[in-house]
Amino acid sequence: MARVMLTGGAGYIASHTATVLSERGHEIVLLDNFSNAERDVPARLRGLIGREMPVIEADIRDVDAVSAALAAHKVEAVIHFAALKAVGESEADPLLYYDINIIGAIRLLQAMQAQGVARIVFSSSATVYGQPDASPIREDAPTRVQNIYGRTKLVTEDLIRDLARTGKLRAAANLRYFNPVGAHASAVIGETPRGVPNNLMPYITQVATGERPYLNVYGNDYETHDGTGVRDYIHVMDLAEAHALALEHILANDVAVTVNLGTGIGVSVLDLVGAFERATGRRIPLNIAPRRAGDVASYYADPAAAAAIFGWRARRGIDDMCRDAWAWQARRSGVNDL
Ligand code: NAD
Ligand code: UD1
Repeated sequence: MARVMLTGGAGYIASHTATVLSERGHEIVLLDNFSNAERDVPARLRGLIGREMPVIEADIRDVDAVSAALAAHKVEAVIHFAALKAVGESEADPLLYYDINIIGAIRLLQAMQAQGVARIVFSSSATVYGQPDASPIREDAPTRVQNIYGRTKLVTEDLIRDLARTGKLRAAANLRYFNPVGAHASAVIGETPRGVPNNLMPYITQVATGERPYLNVYGNDYETHDGTGVRDYIHVMDLAEAHALALEHILANDVAVTVNLGTGIGVSVLDLVGAFERATGRRIPLNIAPRRAGDVASYYADPAAAAAIFGWRARRGIDDMCRDAWAWQARRSGVNDL
Protein backbone atom coordinates (compact mmCIF):
# COMPACT_ATOMS: atom_id res chain seq x y z
CA MET A 1 0.00 0.00 0.00
CA ALA A 2 1.34 3.44 -0.90
CA ARG A 3 0.14 7.03 -0.92
CA VAL A 4 0.38 8.17 -4.51
CA MET A 5 -0.21 11.53 -6.17
CA LEU A 6 -1.65 11.46 -9.69
CA THR A 7 -0.90 14.72 -11.50
CA GLY A 8 -3.54 15.32 -14.15
CA GLY A 9 -5.58 13.06 -11.91
CA ALA A 10 -8.96 14.00 -13.39
CA GLY A 11 -7.84 13.22 -16.94
CA TYR A 12 -8.61 10.24 -19.15
CA ILE A 13 -5.82 7.80 -18.33
CA ALA A 14 -5.27 8.97 -14.74
CA SER A 15 -8.92 8.54 -13.75
CA HIS A 16 -8.92 4.94 -15.01
CA THR A 17 -5.62 4.31 -13.24
CA ALA A 18 -7.11 5.69 -10.05
CA THR A 19 -9.77 2.97 -10.03
CA VAL A 20 -7.16 0.21 -10.28
CA LEU A 21 -4.82 1.75 -7.70
CA SER A 22 -7.69 2.11 -5.28
CA GLU A 23 -8.79 -1.50 -5.82
CA ARG A 24 -5.26 -2.62 -5.07
CA GLY A 25 -5.32 -0.77 -1.74
CA HIS A 26 -3.31 2.33 -2.58
CA GLU A 27 -4.30 5.77 -1.26
CA ILE A 28 -4.68 8.22 -4.10
CA VAL A 29 -4.35 11.99 -4.18
CA LEU A 30 -5.48 13.76 -7.35
CA LEU A 31 -3.89 17.00 -8.51
CA ASP A 32 -5.29 18.74 -11.58
CA ASN A 33 -5.84 22.28 -12.85
CA PHE A 34 -8.95 21.09 -14.77
CA SER A 35 -7.71 22.67 -17.99
CA ASN A 36 -8.74 19.50 -19.85
CA ALA A 37 -10.97 17.65 -17.44
CA GLU A 38 -14.59 17.83 -16.46
CA ARG A 39 -15.24 19.20 -13.00
CA ASP A 40 -17.32 16.24 -11.91
CA VAL A 41 -14.73 13.54 -12.66
CA PRO A 42 -13.62 13.30 -8.99
CA ALA A 43 -17.26 12.88 -7.90
CA ARG A 44 -17.82 10.15 -10.49
CA LEU A 45 -14.61 8.47 -9.39
CA ARG A 46 -15.69 8.56 -5.75
CA GLY A 47 -18.90 6.85 -6.80
CA LEU A 48 -16.97 4.15 -8.64
CA ILE A 49 -14.34 3.59 -5.98
CA GLY A 50 -16.70 3.92 -3.06
CA ARG A 51 -14.46 6.16 -1.01
CA GLU A 52 -13.22 9.71 -0.62
CA MET A 53 -9.93 10.95 -2.00
CA PRO A 54 -8.18 14.32 -1.71
CA VAL A 55 -8.45 16.47 -4.84
CA ILE A 56 -6.09 19.42 -5.15
CA GLU A 57 -6.84 22.03 -7.77
CA ALA A 58 -3.40 23.31 -8.73
CA ASP A 59 -1.04 23.74 -11.62
CA ILE A 60 1.99 21.45 -11.72
CA ARG A 61 4.15 24.54 -12.32
CA ASP A 62 3.18 25.92 -8.88
CA VAL A 63 6.02 24.48 -6.78
CA ASP A 64 4.61 25.79 -3.49
CA ALA A 65 1.15 24.32 -4.05
CA VAL A 66 2.47 20.95 -5.22
CA SER A 67 5.00 20.87 -2.38
CA ALA A 68 2.30 21.62 0.18
CA ALA A 69 0.06 18.87 -1.23
CA LEU A 70 2.88 16.31 -1.19
CA ALA A 71 3.62 17.16 2.44
CA ALA A 72 0.02 17.36 3.63
CA HIS A 73 -0.83 13.93 2.23
CA LYS A 74 2.53 12.26 2.99
CA VAL A 75 2.88 11.24 -0.64
CA GLU A 76 5.41 8.47 -1.32
CA ALA A 77 5.36 8.40 -5.13
CA VAL A 78 4.00 10.42 -8.03
CA ILE A 79 2.45 9.27 -11.29
CA HIS A 80 2.90 12.20 -13.63
CA PHE A 81 0.11 12.35 -16.21
CA ALA A 82 -0.48 16.12 -16.43
CA ALA A 83 0.48 17.45 -19.84
CA LEU A 84 -0.86 18.86 -23.07
CA LYS A 85 -1.13 16.16 -25.73
CA ALA A 86 -2.26 17.49 -29.11
CA VAL A 87 0.41 17.16 -31.80
CA GLY A 88 -1.06 19.88 -34.05
CA GLU A 89 -1.40 22.36 -31.18
CA SER A 90 2.20 21.66 -30.14
CA GLU A 91 3.43 22.66 -33.59
CA ALA A 92 1.27 25.80 -33.51
CA ASP A 93 2.43 26.87 -30.04
CA PRO A 94 5.75 25.24 -29.12
CA LEU A 95 6.44 27.49 -26.13
CA LEU A 96 3.12 26.52 -24.53
CA TYR A 97 4.14 22.85 -24.79
CA TYR A 98 7.67 23.48 -23.49
CA ASP A 99 6.16 25.43 -20.61
CA ILE A 100 3.52 22.96 -19.44
CA ASN A 101 5.18 19.69 -20.40
CA ILE A 102 8.86 20.43 -19.75
CA ILE A 103 8.92 23.34 -17.26
CA GLY A 104 5.90 21.68 -15.60
CA ALA A 105 7.86 18.45 -15.15
CA ILE A 106 10.86 20.37 -13.76
CA ARG A 107 8.67 22.25 -11.26
CA LEU A 108 7.03 19.00 -10.18
CA LEU A 109 10.43 17.35 -9.74
CA GLN A 110 11.58 20.36 -7.68
CA ALA A 111 8.56 20.05 -5.41
CA MET A 112 9.19 16.31 -5.08
CA GLN A 113 12.84 16.90 -4.22
CA ALA A 114 11.90 19.52 -1.64
CA GLN A 115 9.61 17.00 0.05
CA GLY A 116 11.91 13.97 -0.31
CA VAL A 117 9.56 12.19 -2.72
CA ALA A 118 11.96 10.21 -4.92
CA ARG A 119 9.82 7.83 -6.98
CA ILE A 120 8.01 8.70 -10.19
CA VAL A 121 6.08 7.02 -12.97
CA PHE A 122 5.90 9.15 -16.11
CA SER A 123 3.39 9.13 -19.01
CA SER A 124 5.55 9.05 -22.09
CA SER A 125 4.46 8.09 -25.57
CA ALA A 126 5.42 5.81 -28.44
CA THR A 127 5.54 9.02 -30.44
CA VAL A 128 9.17 9.33 -29.25
CA TYR A 129 10.10 6.63 -31.82
CA GLY A 130 8.89 8.80 -34.72
CA GLN A 131 9.28 6.89 -37.99
CA PRO A 132 10.44 3.45 -36.82
CA ASP A 133 12.69 1.24 -38.98
CA ALA A 134 10.44 -1.72 -38.27
CA SER A 135 7.78 -3.06 -35.92
CA PRO A 136 7.51 -4.55 -33.35
CA ILE A 137 9.40 -1.70 -31.69
CA ARG A 138 11.69 -2.43 -28.76
CA GLU A 139 12.66 0.19 -26.18
CA ASP A 140 16.20 0.37 -27.56
CA ALA A 141 14.95 1.46 -31.00
CA PRO A 142 16.18 4.92 -32.06
CA THR A 143 14.12 7.87 -30.84
CA ARG A 144 13.46 10.25 -33.70
CA VAL A 145 10.90 12.75 -32.50
CA GLN A 146 9.01 14.42 -35.31
CA ASN A 147 7.01 17.08 -33.52
CA ILE A 148 7.11 19.39 -30.51
CA TYR A 149 4.80 17.19 -28.44
CA GLY A 150 7.12 14.22 -28.97
CA ARG A 151 10.11 16.40 -28.10
CA THR A 152 8.55 17.34 -24.74
CA LYS A 153 8.01 13.65 -23.92
CA LEU A 154 11.58 12.67 -24.80
CA VAL A 155 13.10 15.62 -22.91
CA THR A 156 11.08 14.76 -19.81
CA GLU A 157 12.15 11.13 -20.04
CA ASP A 158 15.78 12.33 -20.26
CA LEU A 159 15.37 14.61 -17.23
CA ILE A 160 14.00 11.71 -15.22
CA ARG A 161 16.77 9.36 -16.36
CA ASP A 162 19.39 11.99 -15.41
CA LEU A 163 17.91 12.46 -11.95
CA ALA A 164 17.83 8.71 -11.40
CA ARG A 165 21.42 8.31 -12.63
CA THR A 166 22.64 11.03 -10.27
CA GLY A 167 20.74 9.59 -7.31
CA LYS A 168 18.24 12.47 -7.06
CA LEU A 169 15.44 10.04 -7.78
CA ARG A 170 15.50 6.58 -6.22
CA ALA A 171 13.24 4.92 -8.77
CA ALA A 172 11.49 5.84 -11.99
CA ALA A 173 9.44 4.30 -14.78
CA ASN A 174 9.06 6.05 -18.13
CA LEU A 175 6.04 4.40 -19.74
CA ARG A 176 5.72 4.70 -23.51
CA TYR A 177 2.04 4.27 -24.31
CA PHE A 178 0.99 3.14 -27.74
CA ASN A 179 -2.64 4.07 -28.63
CA PRO A 180 -4.91 4.14 -25.57
CA VAL A 181 -8.63 3.66 -26.29
CA GLY A 182 -11.78 2.45 -24.56
CA ALA A 183 -13.28 3.27 -21.22
CA HIS A 184 -14.10 1.83 -17.81
CA ALA A 185 -16.64 -0.99 -18.21
CA SER A 186 -19.13 0.98 -16.07
CA ALA A 187 -19.20 3.79 -18.70
CA VAL A 188 -18.97 6.23 -15.76
CA ILE A 189 -15.57 7.57 -16.85
CA GLY A 190 -14.00 7.73 -20.32
CA GLU A 191 -12.34 10.01 -22.83
CA THR A 192 -13.79 13.45 -23.58
CA PRO A 193 -11.98 14.95 -26.56
CA ARG A 194 -12.40 18.68 -27.11
CA GLY A 195 -13.99 19.61 -30.43
CA VAL A 196 -13.47 17.40 -33.46
CA PRO A 197 -11.51 14.31 -32.36
CA ASN A 198 -8.08 13.85 -33.96
CA ASN A 199 -7.78 10.24 -32.87
CA LEU A 200 -9.42 7.35 -34.62
CA MET A 201 -11.53 5.67 -31.92
CA PRO A 202 -13.31 8.79 -30.62
CA TYR A 203 -14.02 9.77 -34.22
CA ILE A 204 -15.54 6.35 -34.94
CA THR A 205 -17.77 6.52 -31.85
CA GLN A 206 -19.02 9.96 -32.88
CA VAL A 207 -19.86 8.65 -36.36
CA ALA A 208 -21.75 5.84 -34.65
CA THR A 209 -23.87 8.31 -32.67
CA GLY A 210 -24.66 10.26 -35.86
CA GLU A 211 -22.75 13.35 -34.65
CA ARG A 212 -20.45 12.99 -37.69
CA PRO A 213 -21.61 11.64 -41.06
CA TYR A 214 -18.65 9.42 -41.96
CA LEU A 215 -15.11 8.50 -41.04
CA ASN A 216 -12.31 9.88 -43.17
CA VAL A 217 -9.82 7.07 -43.73
CA TYR A 218 -6.50 8.87 -44.06
CA GLY A 219 -4.89 6.88 -46.85
CA ASN A 220 -5.52 3.38 -48.21
CA ASP A 221 -2.29 3.07 -50.16
CA TYR A 222 0.14 2.38 -47.31
CA GLU A 223 2.27 -0.75 -47.42
CA THR A 224 0.14 -2.56 -44.88
CA HIS A 225 -2.10 -5.62 -45.19
CA ASP A 226 -5.10 -3.56 -46.39
CA GLY A 227 -3.42 -0.25 -47.26
CA THR A 228 -4.61 1.64 -44.16
CA GLY A 229 -2.50 2.76 -41.19
CA VAL A 230 -1.60 0.15 -38.59
CA ARG A 231 -1.39 0.95 -34.86
CA ASP A 232 -1.21 -0.80 -31.51
CA TYR A 233 -4.48 0.05 -29.73
CA ILE A 234 -4.47 -0.67 -26.02
CA HIS A 235 -7.46 -0.73 -23.70
CA VAL A 236 -7.19 2.05 -21.13
CA MET A 237 -7.94 -0.42 -18.31
CA ASP A 238 -4.98 -2.58 -19.38
CA LEU A 239 -2.92 0.61 -19.33
CA ALA A 240 -4.28 1.41 -15.87
CA GLU A 241 -3.25 -2.02 -14.60
CA ALA A 242 0.23 -1.51 -16.03
CA HIS A 243 0.58 1.70 -14.01
CA ALA A 244 -0.29 -0.11 -10.81
CA LEU A 245 2.30 -2.81 -11.51
CA ALA A 246 4.91 -0.24 -12.56
CA LEU A 247 4.29 1.71 -9.37
CA GLU A 248 4.57 -1.40 -7.22
CA HIS A 249 7.79 -2.32 -9.03
CA ILE A 250 9.45 1.03 -8.36
CA LEU A 251 8.29 1.03 -4.76
CA ALA A 252 10.00 -2.33 -4.24
CA ASN A 253 13.12 -1.72 -6.37
CA ASP A 254 15.47 1.23 -6.77
CA VAL A 255 15.53 1.17 -10.56
CA ALA A 256 14.98 3.40 -13.56
CA VAL A 257 13.19 1.72 -16.43
CA THR A 258 11.77 2.77 -19.79
CA VAL A 259 9.05 0.44 -20.96
CA ASN A 260 6.60 0.16 -23.87
CA LEU A 261 2.95 -0.34 -23.06
CA GLY A 262 1.16 -1.90 -26.00
CA THR A 263 -0.44 -5.18 -26.95
CA GLY A 264 2.11 -6.08 -29.63
CA ILE A 265 -0.71 -6.48 -32.16
CA GLY A 266 -0.94 -4.26 -35.23
CA VAL A 267 -4.50 -3.24 -36.14
CA SER A 268 -5.38 -1.28 -39.30
CA VAL A 269 -8.02 1.44 -39.61
CA LEU A 270 -10.26 -0.98 -41.52
CA ASP A 271 -9.65 -3.75 -38.95
CA LEU A 272 -10.78 -1.40 -36.18
CA VAL A 273 -13.84 -0.22 -38.09
CA GLY A 274 -14.81 -3.86 -38.78
CA ALA A 275 -14.37 -4.82 -35.14
CA PHE A 276 -16.43 -1.81 -34.06
CA GLU A 277 -19.26 -2.66 -36.43
CA ARG A 278 -19.32 -6.28 -35.22
CA ALA A 279 -19.08 -5.36 -31.53
CA THR A 280 -21.77 -2.67 -31.62
CA GLY A 281 -24.04 -3.46 -34.57
CA ARG A 282 -23.57 0.14 -35.79
CA ARG A 283 -22.49 0.94 -39.34
CA ILE A 284 -19.60 3.32 -39.95
CA PRO A 285 -19.73 4.98 -43.39
CA LEU A 286 -16.25 5.57 -44.81
CA ASN A 287 -14.70 8.24 -46.99
CA ILE A 288 -11.26 7.41 -48.36
CA ALA A 289 -9.23 10.60 -47.91
CA PRO A 290 -5.60 11.57 -48.59
CA ARG A 291 -2.90 10.56 -46.13
CA ARG A 292 -2.64 12.76 -43.03
CA ALA A 293 0.62 14.74 -42.85
CA GLY A 294 3.10 13.29 -40.38
CA ASP A 295 1.46 9.85 -40.21
CA VAL A 296 3.47 6.67 -40.05
CA ALA A 297 2.29 3.61 -42.04
CA SER A 298 2.64 1.11 -39.26
CA TYR A 299 3.87 0.84 -35.72
CA TYR A 300 3.26 -1.53 -32.87
CA ALA A 301 5.05 -2.45 -29.68
CA ASP A 302 7.26 -5.24 -28.60
CA PRO A 303 5.72 -5.54 -25.12
CA ALA A 304 8.21 -8.15 -23.83
CA ALA A 305 9.98 -5.78 -21.41
CA ALA A 306 6.74 -4.91 -19.59
CA ALA A 307 6.04 -8.62 -19.18
CA ALA A 308 9.57 -9.37 -17.95
CA ILE A 309 9.89 -6.36 -15.61
CA PHE A 310 6.37 -5.75 -14.30
CA GLY A 311 4.75 -9.12 -15.02
CA TRP A 312 2.20 -7.22 -17.13
CA ARG A 313 0.52 -8.00 -20.39
CA ALA A 314 -2.57 -6.58 -22.03
CA ARG A 315 -5.59 -8.84 -21.51
CA ARG A 316 -8.29 -7.01 -23.48
CA GLY A 317 -8.73 -7.25 -27.24
CA ILE A 318 -10.10 -4.85 -29.85
CA ASP A 319 -13.65 -6.16 -29.38
CA ASP A 320 -13.52 -5.10 -25.70
CA MET A 321 -12.01 -1.75 -26.69
CA CYS A 322 -14.80 -1.09 -29.21
CA ARG A 323 -17.59 -2.22 -26.90
CA ASP A 324 -16.40 -0.10 -23.97
CA ALA A 325 -15.59 2.96 -26.09
CA TRP A 326 -19.08 2.74 -27.56
CA ALA A 327 -20.86 2.23 -24.24
CA TRP A 328 -19.19 5.39 -22.94
CA GLN A 329 -19.92 7.52 -26.02
CA ALA A 330 -23.50 6.23 -26.30
CA ARG A 331 -24.15 7.14 -22.69
CA ARG A 332 -22.67 10.62 -23.09
CA SER A 333 -24.60 11.28 -26.26
CA GLY A 334 -27.82 9.93 -24.81
CA VAL A 335 -28.06 7.17 -27.42
CA ASN A 336 -30.29 4.37 -26.24
CA ASP A 337 -28.44 1.27 -27.36
CA LEU A 338 -29.89 -1.45 -25.16
P1 NAD B 1 -5.94 14.24 -20.45
O1 NAD B 1 -5.88 15.58 -21.09
O2 NAD B 1 -7.26 13.57 -20.34
O3 NAD B 1 -5.30 14.32 -19.00
C1 NAD B 1 -4.32 15.28 -18.63
C2 NAD B 1 -4.80 15.99 -17.38
O4 NAD B 1 -3.79 16.92 -16.97
C3 NAD B 1 -6.10 16.77 -17.59
O5 NAD B 1 -7.03 16.41 -16.59
C4 NAD B 1 -5.67 18.22 -17.46
O6 NAD B 1 -6.68 19.04 -16.90
C5 NAD B 1 -4.44 18.11 -16.58
N1 NAD B 1 -3.47 19.18 -16.75
C6 NAD B 1 -3.01 19.70 -17.91
N2 NAD B 1 -2.12 20.67 -17.68
C7 NAD B 1 -1.99 20.77 -16.33
C8 NAD B 1 -1.22 21.59 -15.47
N3 NAD B 1 -0.40 22.53 -15.96
N4 NAD B 1 -1.34 21.41 -14.13
C9 NAD B 1 -2.19 20.47 -13.63
N5 NAD B 1 -2.95 19.67 -14.39
C10 NAD B 1 -2.85 19.81 -15.74
O7 NAD B 1 -4.90 13.31 -21.25
P2 NAD B 1 -4.67 11.74 -21.18
O8 NAD B 1 -5.05 11.19 -22.50
O9 NAD B 1 -5.22 11.17 -19.94
O10 NAD B 1 -3.08 11.73 -21.11
C11 NAD B 1 -2.37 11.61 -19.89
C12 NAD B 1 -0.90 11.59 -20.19
O11 NAD B 1 -0.59 10.51 -21.07
C13 NAD B 1 -0.37 12.84 -20.87
O12 NAD B 1 0.91 13.12 -20.35
C14 NAD B 1 -0.26 12.44 -22.32
O13 NAD B 1 0.73 13.18 -23.00
C15 NAD B 1 0.15 10.99 -22.18
N6 NAD B 1 -0.19 10.17 -23.36
C16 NAD B 1 -1.50 10.12 -23.79
C17 NAD B 1 -1.82 9.37 -24.92
C18 NAD B 1 -3.23 9.33 -25.43
O14 NAD B 1 -3.44 8.92 -26.57
N7 NAD B 1 -4.24 9.68 -24.65
C19 NAD B 1 -0.82 8.65 -25.59
C20 NAD B 1 0.49 8.70 -25.11
C21 NAD B 1 0.78 9.47 -23.98
C1 UD1 C 1 -1.62 10.34 -32.83
C2 UD1 C 1 -0.46 11.31 -32.72
C3 UD1 C 1 0.53 10.76 -31.71
C4 UD1 C 1 -0.16 10.55 -30.36
C5 UD1 C 1 -1.34 9.62 -30.55
C6 UD1 C 1 -2.12 9.52 -29.27
C7 UD1 C 1 -0.27 12.41 -34.90
C8 UD1 C 1 0.54 12.53 -36.15
N1 UD1 C 1 0.15 11.47 -34.01
O1 UD1 C 1 -1.09 9.11 -33.26
O2 UD1 C 1 1.62 11.64 -31.54
O3 UD1 C 1 0.76 9.97 -29.45
O4 UD1 C 1 -2.21 10.15 -31.56
O5 UD1 C 1 -2.98 8.44 -29.29
O6 UD1 C 1 -1.20 13.14 -34.67
N2 UD1 C 1 -7.13 7.89 -38.76
C9 UD1 C 1 -8.08 7.95 -39.77
N3 UD1 C 1 -9.13 8.80 -39.62
C10 UD1 C 1 -9.28 9.61 -38.52
C11 UD1 C 1 -8.31 9.54 -37.49
C12 UD1 C 1 -7.24 8.68 -37.65
O7 UD1 C 1 -7.95 7.24 -40.77
O8 UD1 C 1 -10.25 10.37 -38.46
C13 UD1 C 1 -6.02 6.94 -38.88
C14 UD1 C 1 -4.63 7.59 -38.86
O9 UD1 C 1 -4.23 7.94 -40.14
C15 UD1 C 1 -3.81 6.43 -38.25
C16 UD1 C 1 -4.78 5.73 -37.31
O10 UD1 C 1 -6.08 6.09 -37.77
O11 UD1 C 1 -3.42 5.53 -39.26
C17 UD1 C 1 -4.64 6.14 -35.85
O12 UD1 C 1 -4.70 7.55 -35.74
P1 UD1 C 1 -4.70 8.30 -34.32
O13 UD1 C 1 -5.75 7.72 -33.47
O14 UD1 C 1 -4.75 9.77 -34.59
O15 UD1 C 1 -3.30 7.90 -33.66
P2 UD1 C 1 -1.79 8.06 -34.17
O16 UD1 C 1 -1.75 8.53 -35.59
O17 UD1 C 1 -1.09 6.80 -33.88
